Amino acid sequence: MKALLLSGGSGTRLRPITHTSAKQLVPVANKPVLFYGLEAIAQAGISEVGIVVGDTAEEIRAAVGDGSAFGLDITYIPQSAPLGLAHAVLIAREFLGEDDFVMYLGDNFVVGGITSLVDAFRAERPDARILLTRVADPSAFGVAQLDDSGRVVGLEEKPRQPRSDLALVGVYLFTPAVHEAVRAIKPSGRGELEITDALQWMIDAGRDVRSTTISGYWKDTGNVTDMLEVNRSVLESLEGRIDGTVDGRSELIGRVRVGAGAQVTGSRIVGPVVIGANTVIADSYVGPFTSIAEDCRIEDSEIEYSIVLRDSSVRGVGRVEASLIGRNVEVTPAPRKPAAHRLVLGDHSKVQISS
Ligand code: DAU
Repeated sequence: MKALLLSGGSGTRLRPITHTSAKQLVPVANKPVLFYGLEAIAQAGISEVGIVVGDTAEEIRAAVGDGSAFGLDITYIPQSAPLGLAHAVLIAREFLGEDDFVMYLGDNFVVGGITSLVDAFRAERPDARILLTRVADPSAFGVAQLDDSGRVVGLEEKPRQPRSDLALVGVYLFTPAVHEAVRAIKPSGRGELEITDALQWMIDAGRDVRSTTISGYWKDTGNVTDMLEVNRSVLESLEGRIDGTVDGRSELIGRVRVGAGAQVTGSRIVGPVVIGANTVIADSYVGPFTSIAEDCRIEDSEIEYSIVLRDSSVRGVGRVEASLIGRNVEVTPAPRKPAAHRLVLGDHSKVQISS
């Protein structure tokens, strides 16, 4: 069995973290979301992985390399433009050969991995198996309709009026039967070869398309609450480890990971917390479910249930909670009674100011 990991796309800027162009590299607990996909594939016992790359190919290659760090053998498959998920299967034909494969969308996160799904697929080998999850906003996803016995009878891509709340998760299992389908379909209204259309074609042709409904699924939709929540769920299973230095005036409680070259001085950290390499935490409190990336500085502040991306600093601002702070951000105190607020905010920022 092989894996096809989709990491192409147009490189449009991502909300809420607008500074990374490859959305698959958004960090969750200080690790790019794409890496969780690669690890899940390796854990499922798959070693041959094709990564479909587009505009952001260089960024993806720089992060993943030849895959040896994951125990994987990687083949990069360039896609000229994001012409659709079924188009990605079409151009990967030579790499995929006559093998069964799992197609994994690089911006998706499946809590608990895919090992049991892959094992079940290997044993049963229906023509395709899709993963579904219940969501509050199905119109942002592919949506499936099941009959009373749970068989997939219909699929629609981002319908205005969804017929169910069952969204397609970005993990699909296929036998080579899918190749005929991706060749047969035509581009959709948005000009893409849709995998939902290929699956519908398979259903209409009498192929055996099954589904599994899961919980514990996330993809970036620009929603800060969801991102903090997925960070929390990953930190739940963090193992503590100190590679940096912690001085005698500091106290670490619970599972805390302190990266190489990081320094903790005069501070209290209550895990689970991850602190990236070369970050300095001075005279501060860092509370549960916080991820602070590399090369940051938290000084004379309190921060909890938050994500801070690399090269950012938070100094002398009292308490910060449930916050997402991007790269190269400086958070500093305002003068006691500001005559006016001076703001430099990126696209789509959300700021709360006490008046
Ligand atoms: O995330 C789940 C959803 O993914 C499903 O519910 C939808 O049915 C499915 O169409 C897809 O919808 P999105 O609009 O969210 O897909 P997006 O364009 O974000 O692409 C998903 C991943 O695949 C992303 O990592 C970029 C990559 N990609 C996408 C396209 C269209 C490619 O590598 N090549 C492509 O041509």
